[in-house]
Amino acid sequence: MKEELAAVAAAARECRACPLWAPATQTVFGEGPAPARVMLVGEQPGDQEDLAGRPFVGPAGRLLDRALTEAGLDRRRVYVTNAVKHFKFQPRGKRRLHQKPSTGEIVACVPWLERERALVEPAIIILLGATAARSVLRRNVAIARERGRLIPLEGGGAALVTVHPSYLLRLRDEEERHAAFAAFVADLRIAKEALG
Ligand code: URA
Repeated sequence: MKEELAAVAAAARECRACPLWAPATQTVFGEGPAPARVMLVGEQPGDQEDLAGRPFVGPAGRLLDRALTEAGLDRRRVYVTNAVKHFKFQPRGKRRLHQKPSTGEIVACVPWLERERALVEPAIIILLGATAARSVLRRNVAIARERGRLIPLEGGGAALVTVHPSYLLRLRDEEERHAAFAAFVADLRIAKEALG
């Protein structure tokens, strides 16, 4: 499985299915064990991930790591990836400002995620935010309404929708941030408990 994933990752480095490859530094493919019982899907690599070539290594990744630990999930046992494999940004001076991927860009990347899923064979896919949910569930998802419950998936396994950690980073009120982090951990615990 690991070797096959490495071959798929190598093919994804040449992907030209949407225009996002051109300004990005590199394709950021998923990483982690295969098979794995848990697969985690984010939106797209951020600035630091684009430079490092690895998913969730920046501020959102550090917050995610803390939440996984609190929920009793070991990141080393989780396959971590993104719905879109290139960083979409707008240059602003020396900075690169994150831009949301379009539906077309999400759809163009679906075949990579499907191949990851087929090789990782997760029992549970944790979907971080609306882009990940859109990509896997193939419909628009209202996170607040659908978060924190297992949604059976065609082809086996279940999905669990929750917020994206970047949303927590944007909250300015400390009390609100604490409450939102606790709710995020509670969602992750549902996945942990479902694994038995
Ligand atoms: N946000 C994401 O959705 N994915 C990453 O890899 C980093 C930040």
